[in-house]
Amino acid sequence: MSKRLKVLVLGAGGREHALCWAAAKSPRVAEVVCAPGNGGIAQVARCVAVDGSDLDAMVALVQAEAPDLTVVGPEVPLALGLVDKLEGLGLRVFGPTRAAAELETSKAFAKEFMQRNGIPTAAYTICDSLDAVKPELPKFSAPVVVKADGLAAGKGVVIAATLDEAEEAAAAMFSGELLGEPARRVVLEEFLEGEELSFFAVCDGKHAIALAAAQDHKRIGEGDSGPNTGGMGAYSTDALLPDSLRHWLTANVAQKVVDGMAAEGRPFKGMLFVGIMMVPRDGAIVPMVLEFNTRFGDPETQALMMRLESDVIDVFDAAIDGTANKLKVTMKAGASVCVIAASAGYPGKYSDGKAISGLEADTKNEVMVFHSGTAAREGAIMTAGGRVLGVTAVGDDLRKALERAYGRLDGISFAGMQFRRDIGWRALGG
Ligand code: AMP
Ligand code: GLY
Repeated sequence: MSKRLKVLVLGAGGREHALCWAAAKSPRVAEVVCAPGNGGIAQVARCVAVDGSDLDAMVALVQAEAPDLTVVGPEVPLALGLVDKLEGLGLRVFGPTRAAAELETSKAFAKEFMQRNGIPTAAYTICDSLDAVKPELPKFSAPVVVKADGLAAGKGVVIAATLDEAEEAAAAMFSGELLGEPARRVVLEEFLEGEELSFFAVCDGKHAIALAAAQDHKRIGEGDSGPNTGGMGAYSTDALLPDSLRHWLTANVAQKVVDGMAAEGRPFKGMLFVGIMMVPRDGAIVPMVLEFNTRFGDPETQALMMRLESDVIDVFDAAIDGTANKLKVTMKAGASVCVIAASAGYPGKYSDGKAISGLEADTKNEVMVFHSGTAAREGAIMTAGGRVLGVTAVGDDLRKALERAYGRLDGISFAGMQFRRDIGWRALGG
Protein backbone atom coordinates (compact mmCIF):
# COMPACT_ATOMS: atom_id res chain seq x y z
CA MET A 1 0.00 0.00 0.00
CA SER A 2 1.21 3.50 -0.77
CA LYS A 3 2.02 5.97 1.98
CA ARG A 4 -0.82 6.58 4.43
CA LEU A 5 -2.01 10.16 4.45
CA LYS A 6 -2.20 13.02 6.88
CA VAL A 7 -5.44 14.93 6.26
CA LEU A 8 -6.22 18.42 7.55
CA VAL A 9 -9.86 19.59 7.73
CA LEU A 10 -10.55 23.30 8.26
CA GLY A 11 -13.68 24.25 10.20
CA ALA A 12 -15.43 23.83 13.54
CA GLY A 13 -18.94 22.50 12.99
CA GLY A 14 -20.98 19.35 12.60
CA ARG A 15 -20.13 19.22 8.91
CA GLU A 16 -16.42 19.12 9.78
CA HIS A 17 -17.03 16.49 12.48
CA ALA A 18 -18.70 14.28 9.85
CA LEU A 19 -15.89 14.90 7.34
CA CYS A 20 -13.21 14.11 9.96
CA TRP A 21 -15.10 10.97 11.00
CA ALA A 22 -15.35 9.79 7.38
CA ALA A 23 -11.67 10.56 6.75
CA ALA A 24 -10.59 8.76 9.93
CA LYS A 25 -12.43 5.61 8.74
CA SER A 26 -10.46 5.52 5.49
CA PRO A 27 -7.77 2.81 5.35
CA ARG A 28 -5.75 5.32 3.33
CA VAL A 29 -5.52 7.77 6.24
CA ALA A 30 -2.88 7.74 9.00
CA GLU A 31 -3.86 10.95 10.82
CA VAL A 32 -6.67 13.52 10.79
CA VAL A 33 -6.04 17.05 12.03
CA CYS A 34 -8.85 19.61 12.39
CA ALA A 35 -8.46 23.37 12.73
CA PRO A 36 -9.93 24.63 14.93
CA GLY A 37 -12.35 21.71 15.50
CA ASN A 38 -14.55 21.37 18.61
CA GLY A 39 -15.17 19.17 21.64
CA GLY A 40 -16.57 16.27 19.61
CA ILE A 41 -14.15 16.49 16.70
CA ALA A 42 -11.34 16.03 19.24
CA GLN A 43 -12.55 12.41 19.58
CA VAL A 44 -11.64 11.62 15.95
CA ALA A 45 -8.96 14.19 15.07
CA ARG A 46 -6.14 16.19 16.64
CA CYS A 47 -7.53 19.72 16.99
CA VAL A 48 -5.29 22.77 16.52
CA ALA A 49 -6.38 26.35 17.09
CA VAL A 50 -6.74 28.74 14.17
CA ASP A 51 -8.84 31.78 13.37
CA GLY A 52 -10.98 30.71 10.41
CA SER A 53 -11.29 34.31 9.21
CA ASP A 54 -7.52 34.99 9.18
CA LEU A 55 -6.09 33.98 5.81
CA ASP A 56 -2.41 34.31 6.76
CA ALA A 57 -2.93 32.31 9.96
CA MET A 58 -4.62 29.49 8.03
CA VAL A 59 -1.88 29.41 5.38
CA ALA A 60 0.79 29.36 8.11
CA LEU A 61 -0.98 26.54 9.90
CA VAL A 62 -1.25 24.41 6.77
CA GLN A 63 2.43 25.01 6.00
CA ALA A 64 3.40 24.07 9.56
CA GLU A 65 1.26 20.91 9.60
CA ALA A 66 2.27 19.97 6.03
CA PRO A 67 -0.67 17.59 5.43
CA ASP A 68 -0.92 15.47 2.29
CA LEU A 69 -4.43 16.81 1.75
CA THR A 70 -6.36 19.84 3.04
CA VAL A 71 -10.17 19.94 2.98
CA VAL A 72 -11.89 23.31 3.44
CA GLY A 73 -15.27 23.07 5.23
CA PRO A 74 -16.82 26.57 5.43
CA GLU A 75 -17.24 29.30 2.82
CA VAL A 76 -15.31 32.11 4.52
CA PRO A 77 -11.81 30.69 3.83
CA LEU A 78 -12.87 30.05 0.21
CA ALA A 79 -14.01 33.67 -0.14
CA LEU A 80 -10.66 34.82 1.29
CA GLY A 81 -8.77 32.86 -1.37
CA LEU A 82 -7.29 30.12 0.83
CA VAL A 83 -7.40 27.56 -1.98
CA ASP A 84 -5.58 29.91 -4.36
CA LYS A 85 -2.82 30.43 -1.78
CA LEU A 86 -2.41 26.73 -0.98
CA GLU A 87 -2.41 25.73 -4.66
CA GLY A 88 0.18 28.44 -5.25
CA LEU A 89 2.36 26.70 -2.67
CA GLY A 90 1.98 23.41 -4.53
CA LEU A 91 -0.28 21.88 -1.85
CA ARG A 92 -3.20 19.50 -2.44
CA VAL A 93 -6.48 21.07 -1.40
CA PHE A 94 -10.16 20.19 -1.87
CA GLY A 95 -12.26 23.28 -2.60
CA PRO A 96 -12.74 26.00 -5.23
CA THR A 97 -10.56 29.04 -5.85
CA ARG A 98 -11.83 32.44 -4.83
CA ALA A 99 -12.99 33.20 -8.39
CA ALA A 100 -14.85 29.88 -8.62
CA ALA A 101 -16.41 30.39 -5.16
CA GLU A 102 -18.11 33.53 -6.50
CA LEU A 103 -20.96 31.20 -7.40
CA GLU A 104 -21.70 31.32 -3.67
CA THR A 105 -20.15 34.62 -2.57
CA SER A 106 -22.02 36.77 -5.11
CA LYS A 107 -25.70 36.11 -5.71
CA ALA A 108 -25.62 38.63 -8.59
CA PHE A 109 -22.76 36.72 -10.26
CA ALA A 110 -24.62 33.43 -9.75
CA LYS A 111 -27.86 34.74 -11.28
CA GLU A 112 -26.12 36.24 -14.32
CA PHE A 113 -24.05 33.08 -14.74
CA MET A 114 -27.23 30.97 -14.72
CA GLN A 115 -28.84 33.23 -17.29
CA ARG A 116 -25.74 33.14 -19.57
CA ASN A 117 -25.59 29.37 -19.33
CA GLY A 118 -29.25 28.43 -19.63
CA ILE A 119 -29.61 27.08 -16.08
CA PRO A 120 -33.24 27.24 -14.83
CA THR A 121 -33.73 29.85 -12.09
CA ALA A 122 -36.31 32.39 -10.91
CA ALA A 123 -36.76 35.66 -12.85
CA TYR A 124 -34.70 38.47 -11.28
CA THR A 125 -33.32 41.99 -11.47
CA ILE A 126 -30.04 43.25 -10.01
CA CYS A 127 -30.12 46.73 -8.47
CA ASP A 128 -27.16 48.80 -7.30
CA SER A 129 -29.11 51.40 -5.32
CA LEU A 130 -32.47 51.90 -3.62
CA ASP A 131 -33.38 54.34 -6.41
CA ALA A 132 -32.87 51.51 -8.88
CA VAL A 133 -35.11 49.18 -6.81
CA LYS A 134 -38.19 51.45 -6.81
CA PRO A 135 -39.04 51.34 -10.53
CA GLU A 136 -38.24 47.61 -10.74
CA LEU A 137 -40.49 46.43 -7.90
CA PRO A 138 -43.83 46.90 -9.71
CA LYS A 139 -42.62 44.38 -12.32
CA PHE A 140 -42.85 41.68 -9.60
CA SER A 141 -45.93 40.35 -7.89
CA ALA A 142 -45.93 39.76 -4.13
CA PRO A 143 -44.46 37.90 -2.38
CA VAL A 144 -41.08 38.97 -3.70
CA VAL A 145 -37.65 37.73 -2.63
CA VAL A 146 -34.97 40.32 -1.79
CA LYS A 147 -31.35 39.13 -1.56
CA ALA A 148 -28.23 41.04 -0.56
CA ASP A 149 -25.26 40.28 -2.79
CA GLY A 150 -22.36 38.74 -0.87
CA LEU A 151 -21.96 36.30 2.02
CA ALA A 152 -24.44 36.98 4.80
CA ALA A 153 -24.36 33.82 6.93
CA GLY A 154 -27.95 33.01 6.00
CA LYS A 155 -29.31 36.45 6.90
CA GLY A 156 -29.22 38.07 3.47
CA VAL A 157 -32.53 36.76 2.10
CA VAL A 158 -35.90 38.36 2.89
CA ILE A 159 -39.18 36.99 1.59
CA ALA A 160 -41.34 40.10 1.50
CA ALA A 161 -45.12 39.64 1.64
CA THR A 162 -45.78 42.96 -0.10
CA LEU A 163 -43.91 45.26 -2.48
CA ASP A 164 -43.70 47.88 0.31
CA GLU A 165 -42.04 45.34 2.59
CA ALA A 166 -39.65 44.47 -0.23
CA GLU A 167 -38.67 48.10 -0.57
CA GLU A 168 -38.11 48.33 3.19
CA ALA A 169 -35.93 45.21 3.09
CA ALA A 170 -33.87 46.59 0.21
CA ALA A 171 -33.50 49.90 2.10
CA ALA A 172 -32.27 48.04 5.19
CA MET A 173 -29.77 46.14 3.04
CA PHE A 174 -28.38 49.24 1.31
CA SER A 175 -28.18 51.20 4.59
CA GLY A 176 -26.27 48.47 6.38
CA GLU A 177 -28.97 48.18 9.04
CA LEU A 178 -29.77 44.55 8.17
CA LEU A 179 -26.28 43.04 7.87
CA GLY A 180 -24.01 45.44 9.70
CA GLU A 181 -22.48 46.70 6.48
CA PRO A 182 -24.16 48.21 3.42
CA ALA A 183 -24.94 45.88 0.53
CA ARG A 184 -23.46 47.06 -2.78
CA ARG A 185 -26.09 45.26 -4.81
CA VAL A 186 -29.46 43.70 -4.14
CA VAL A 187 -31.18 41.02 -6.21
CA LEU A 188 -34.98 41.10 -6.54
CA GLU A 189 -36.33 37.70 -7.38
CA GLU A 190 -39.59 36.00 -8.29
CA PHE A 191 -40.94 33.91 -5.39
CA LEU A 192 -41.03 30.18 -6.10
CA GLU A 193 -43.23 27.75 -4.23
CA GLY A 194 -42.46 24.08 -3.83
CA GLU A 195 -40.30 21.60 -1.96
CA GLU A 196 -36.62 22.37 -1.51
CA LEU A 197 -33.85 19.93 -2.34
CA SER A 198 -30.10 20.09 -1.67
CA PHE A 199 -28.22 18.44 -4.54
CA PHE A 200 -24.51 17.65 -4.22
CA ALA A 201 -22.08 17.07 -7.11
CA VAL A 202 -18.34 16.45 -6.99
CA CYS A 203 -16.58 18.62 -9.58
CA ASP A 204 -13.02 18.48 -10.91
CA GLY A 205 -12.94 21.46 -13.28
CA LYS A 206 -14.18 19.37 -16.22
CA HIS A 207 -16.65 16.81 -14.92
CA ALA A 208 -19.55 16.88 -12.45
CA ILE A 209 -20.61 13.65 -10.72
CA ALA A 210 -23.75 13.49 -8.61
CA LEU A 211 -23.15 12.42 -5.03
CA ALA A 212 -26.59 12.46 -3.39
CA ALA A 213 -29.47 14.70 -2.41
CA ALA A 214 -30.83 15.70 0.96
CA GLN A 215 -33.61 17.83 2.34
CA ASP A 216 -32.75 20.45 4.92
CA HIS A 217 -35.21 21.98 7.42
CA LYS A 218 -34.24 25.63 7.72
CA ARG A 219 -36.93 27.00 10.02
CA ILE A 220 -36.56 26.76 13.78
CA GLY A 221 -40.12 25.55 14.39
CA GLU A 222 -42.09 22.42 13.59
CA GLY A 223 -44.16 22.51 10.41
CA ASP A 224 -41.58 24.97 8.99
CA SER A 225 -42.60 27.86 11.24
CA GLY A 226 -40.60 30.70 12.74
CA PRO A 227 -37.30 32.27 11.69
CA ASN A 228 -34.64 30.72 9.44
CA THR A 229 -31.65 28.96 10.97
CA GLY A 230 -28.47 27.38 9.62
CA GLY A 231 -30.51 24.16 9.34
CA MET A 232 -32.33 22.17 12.06
CA GLY A 233 -32.11 18.76 10.46
CA ALA A 234 -31.68 16.95 7.17
CA TYR A 235 -32.47 13.59 5.70
CA SER A 236 -31.27 11.75 2.64
CA THR A 237 -33.04 8.87 0.89
CA ASP A 238 -32.83 7.19 -2.51
CA ALA A 239 -36.37 8.38 -3.20
CA LEU A 240 -35.27 12.03 -3.00
CA LEU A 241 -33.04 11.54 -6.03
CA PRO A 242 -34.53 9.03 -8.49
CA ASP A 243 -32.26 8.23 -11.46
CA SER A 244 -34.22 10.45 -13.84
CA LEU A 245 -33.82 13.49 -11.56
CA ARG A 246 -30.16 12.67 -10.88
CA HIS A 247 -29.45 12.62 -14.62
CA TRP A 248 -31.46 15.74 -15.27
CA LEU A 249 -29.76 17.76 -12.52
CA THR A 250 -26.33 16.50 -13.52
CA ALA A 251 -26.78 17.40 -17.19
CA ASN A 252 -28.86 20.57 -16.87
CA VAL A 253 -27.31 22.12 -13.80
CA ALA A 254 -24.04 20.65 -12.49
CA GLN A 255 -22.32 19.92 -15.82
CA LYS A 256 -23.48 23.28 -17.20
CA VAL A 257 -21.88 24.95 -14.17
CA VAL A 258 -18.60 23.12 -14.73
CA ASP A 259 -18.58 23.82 -18.48
CA GLY A 260 -19.58 27.48 -18.05
CA MET A 261 -17.05 28.14 -15.29
CA ALA A 262 -14.26 26.49 -17.33
CA ALA A 263 -15.19 28.58 -20.40
CA GLU A 264 -15.11 31.74 -18.27
CA GLY A 265 -11.63 30.98 -16.95
CA ARG A 266 -12.73 30.01 -13.42
CA PRO A 267 -12.62 26.19 -13.46
CA PHE A 268 -14.76 24.82 -10.63
CA LYS A 269 -13.24 22.14 -8.40
CA GLY A 270 -14.72 20.92 -5.15
CA MET A 271 -18.23 20.32 -3.90
CA LEU A 272 -21.07 22.00 -5.77
CA PHE A 273 -24.12 22.22 -3.52
CA VAL A 274 -27.18 23.32 -5.48
CA GLY A 275 -30.21 24.62 -3.58
CA ILE A 276 -33.23 23.69 -5.66
CA MET A 277 -36.94 24.44 -5.53
CA MET A 278 -39.08 21.66 -7.04
CA VAL A 279 -41.81 23.80 -8.56
CA PRO A 280 -45.13 22.21 -9.62
CA ARG A 281 -46.02 23.57 -13.06
CA ASP A 282 -48.67 22.30 -15.52
CA GLY A 283 -48.93 18.93 -13.81
CA ALA A 284 -45.16 18.36 -13.82
CA ILE A 285 -42.39 19.22 -11.33
CA VAL A 286 -39.80 21.68 -12.63
CA PRO A 287 -36.50 21.97 -10.69
CA MET A 288 -35.34 25.59 -10.43
CA VAL A 289 -32.02 26.69 -8.90
CA LEU A 290 -32.34 28.95 -5.84
CA GLU A 291 -28.66 29.26 -5.06
CA PHE A 292 -25.24 27.69 -5.31
CA ASN A 293 -22.95 26.88 -2.42
CA THR A 294 -19.39 25.90 -3.17
CA ARG A 295 -18.83 23.60 -0.19
CA PHE A 296 -20.53 20.80 1.71
CA GLY A 297 -23.80 21.67 3.49
CA ASP A 298 -24.41 21.62 7.22
CA PRO A 299 -26.39 19.55 8.42
CA GLU A 300 -26.70 17.72 5.06
CA THR A 301 -23.11 16.44 5.28
CA GLN A 302 -23.74 14.65 8.56
CA ALA A 303 -26.55 12.68 6.86
CA LEU A 304 -24.55 12.13 3.64
CA MET A 305 -21.32 10.94 5.29
CA MET A 306 -23.22 8.21 7.15
CA ARG A 307 -24.62 6.91 3.86
CA LEU A 308 -21.33 7.14 1.97
CA GLU A 309 -19.82 3.71 1.38
CA SER A 310 -17.03 4.89 -0.90
CA ASP A 311 -13.77 6.12 0.60
CA VAL A 312 -14.19 9.88 1.08
CA ILE A 313 -10.50 10.39 0.27
CA ASP A 314 -11.10 8.94 -3.21
CA VAL A 315 -13.80 11.60 -3.67
CA PHE A 316 -11.39 14.41 -2.70
CA ASP A 317 -8.61 12.98 -4.89
CA ALA A 318 -10.86 12.72 -7.95
CA ALA A 319 -11.81 16.40 -7.64
CA ILE A 320 -8.19 17.49 -7.27
CA ASP A 321 -6.78 15.21 -9.99
CA GLY A 322 -9.45 15.82 -12.64
CA THR A 323 -10.63 12.20 -12.57
CA ALA A 324 -14.18 12.61 -11.26
CA ASN A 325 -15.47 10.97 -14.47
CA LYS A 326 -13.86 7.71 -13.26
CA LEU A 327 -15.23 8.04 -9.72
CA LYS A 328 -17.78 5.44 -8.61
CA VAL A 329 -19.66 6.80 -5.62
CA THR A 330 -21.66 4.26 -3.66
CA MET A 331 -24.16 5.25 -1.01
CA LYS A 332 -25.85 2.89 1.45
CA ALA A 333 -29.34 2.07 0.21
CA GLY A 334 -32.15 3.33 2.43
CA ALA A 335 -32.06 6.49 4.46
CA SER A 336 -30.15 8.68 6.86
CA VAL A 337 -31.23 11.57 9.02
CA CYS A 338 -29.54 14.24 11.13
CA VAL A 339 -31.53 16.01 13.86
CA ILE A 340 -29.97 19.17 15.29
CA ALA A 341 -30.16 19.94 19.01
CA ALA A 342 -29.80 23.69 19.52
CA SER A 343 -29.36 26.11 22.42
CA ALA A 344 -32.35 27.95 23.88
CA GLY A 345 -32.82 31.25 22.06
CA TYR A 346 -31.19 30.12 18.79
CA PRO A 347 -31.31 31.52 16.05
CA GLY A 348 -31.41 34.65 18.22
CA LYS A 349 -29.27 35.23 21.29
CA TYR A 350 -28.19 32.18 23.28
CA SER A 351 -25.64 31.44 25.98
CA ASP A 352 -22.83 28.86 25.99
CA GLY A 353 -21.32 26.71 28.70
CA LYS A 354 -24.20 24.34 29.53
CA ALA A 355 -23.04 20.84 30.50
CA ILE A 356 -24.26 18.13 28.12
CA SER A 357 -25.21 14.73 29.49
CA GLY A 358 -25.76 11.43 27.68
CA LEU A 359 -22.83 11.66 25.27
CA GLU A 360 -21.34 8.20 25.97
CA ALA A 361 -19.44 6.89 22.95
CA ASP A 362 -21.60 5.21 20.33
CA THR A 363 -20.50 1.68 19.62
CA LYS A 364 -22.69 0.91 16.63
CA ASN A 365 -22.22 2.40 13.18
CA GLU A 366 -25.94 3.11 12.94
CA VAL A 367 -25.99 6.26 15.09
CA MET A 368 -23.44 9.04 15.48
CA VAL A 369 -23.62 12.18 17.55
CA PHE A 370 -21.80 14.82 15.51
CA HIS A 371 -20.89 17.97 17.42
CA SER A 372 -21.80 21.33 15.87
CA GLY A 373 -20.91 23.66 18.71
CA THR A 374 -19.30 22.13 21.78
CA ALA A 375 -16.13 22.59 23.80
CA ALA A 376 -14.31 20.15 26.09
CA ARG A 377 -13.69 21.69 29.51
CA GLU A 378 -12.24 19.85 32.49
CA GLY A 379 -13.21 16.53 31.03
CA ALA A 380 -16.81 17.57 30.37
CA ILE A 381 -18.46 18.55 27.10
CA MET A 382 -20.18 21.95 27.17
CA THR A 383 -22.39 23.77 24.70
CA ALA A 384 -20.48 26.33 22.62
CA GLY A 385 -22.76 27.50 19.85
CA GLY A 386 -26.31 27.95 18.60
CA ARG A 387 -26.43 24.58 16.95
CA VAL A 388 -24.88 22.16 19.44
CA LEU A 389 -25.27 18.54 18.28
CA GLY A 390 -26.40 16.69 15.15
CA VAL A 391 -27.72 13.27 16.10
CA THR A 392 -27.42 11.23 12.92
CA ALA A 393 -28.63 7.74 12.07
CA VAL A 394 -29.00 5.40 9.12
CA GLY A 395 -31.79 2.89 8.51
CA ASP A 396 -33.31 0.66 5.87
CA ASP A 397 -35.94 3.35 5.50
CA LEU A 398 -36.54 6.85 6.82
CA ARG A 399 -38.81 5.65 9.64
CA LYS A 400 -36.10 3.37 11.00
CA ALA A 401 -33.44 6.09 10.74
CA LEU A 402 -35.73 8.57 12.52
CA GLU A 403 -36.53 6.07 15.27
CA ARG A 404 -32.81 5.57 15.93
CA ALA A 405 -31.92 9.27 15.83
CA TYR A 406 -34.78 10.36 18.12
CA GLY A 407 -34.16 7.37 20.38
CA ARG A 408 -30.55 8.48 20.84
CA LEU A 409 -31.55 12.12 21.27
CA ASP A 410 -33.95 11.19 24.08
CA GLY A 411 -30.95 10.15 26.18
CA ILE A 412 -29.13 13.47 25.69
CA SER A 413 -29.83 16.68 27.53
CA PHE A 414 -28.53 20.13 28.34
CA ALA A 415 -30.24 23.17 29.85
CA GLY A 416 -32.53 24.77 27.25
CA MET A 417 -32.02 22.09 24.58
CA GLN A 418 -34.45 22.51 21.67
CA PHE A 419 -34.96 20.36 18.59
CA ARG A 420 -37.60 19.69 15.95
CA ARG A 421 -39.55 16.46 16.33
CA ASP A 422 -40.73 16.53 12.73
CA ILE A 423 -37.58 16.14 10.63
CA GLY A 424 -38.54 14.21 7.48
CA TRP A 425 -42.25 15.04 7.89
CA ARG A 426 -42.77 15.80 4.20
CA ALA A 427 -41.37 12.45 3.12
CA LEU A 428 -43.57 10.69 5.67
CA GLY A 429 -46.60 12.35 4.12
CA GLY A 430 -46.97 14.77 7.03
P1 AMP B 1 -30.64 31.29 -0.63
O1 AMP B 1 -29.57 31.76 0.32
O2 AMP B 1 -30.64 32.01 -1.93
O3 AMP B 1 -30.76 29.81 -0.76
O4 AMP B 1 -32.00 31.61 0.13
C1 AMP B 1 -32.25 31.10 1.42
C2 AMP B 1 -33.63 30.50 1.47
O5 AMP B 1 -34.60 31.46 1.04
C3 AMP B 1 -33.82 29.32 0.53
O6 AMP B 1 -33.39 28.12 1.08
C4 AMP B 1 -35.32 29.36 0.31
O7 AMP B 1 -35.99 28.77 1.39
C5 AMP B 1 -35.62 30.83 0.31
N1 AMP B 1 -35.61 31.36 -1.07
C6 AMP B 1 -34.57 31.87 -1.76
N2 AMP B 1 -34.93 32.24 -3.00
C7 AMP B 1 -36.23 31.97 -3.11
C8 AMP B 1 -37.20 32.11 -4.16
N3 AMP B 1 -36.89 32.65 -5.34
N4 AMP B 1 -38.47 31.70 -3.92
C9 AMP B 1 -38.81 31.17 -2.72
N5 AMP B 1 -37.96 31.01 -1.70
C10 AMP B 1 -36.68 31.40 -1.88
N1 GLY C 1 -27.73 23.60 5.14
C1 GLY C 1 -27.51 24.78 4.39
C2 GLY C 1 -26.12 25.19 4.25
O1 GLY C 1 -25.19 24.51 4.60
O2 GLY C 1 -25.91 26.26 3.69
